[in-house]
Amino acid sequence: MKVEIDDQLCSGHGRCSILAPEVYRLDDNGYNADRGQIIDVPAGYEAAAALGMRNCPEAAINAVD
Ligand code: F3S
Repeated sequence: MKVEIDDQLCSGHGRCSILAPEVYRLDDNGYNADRGQIIDVPAGYEAAAALGMRNCPEAAINAVD
């Protein structure tokens, strides 16, 4: 599973990292540290990644093929 973090939509809500810290990291300003990039979800953390994705208020996280 891969997810893309939209660099325009991420507004630093931080819910992704609270719900799935193994998948989503925040930078020093509270934004997703991987915005603008596609990241590989570690094996076994797909459900956590999906939970963080669903709970982003800006819909900044999207699954990619
Ligand atoms: Fe950004 Fe959404 Fe996470 S706004 S910090 S990707 S909850």
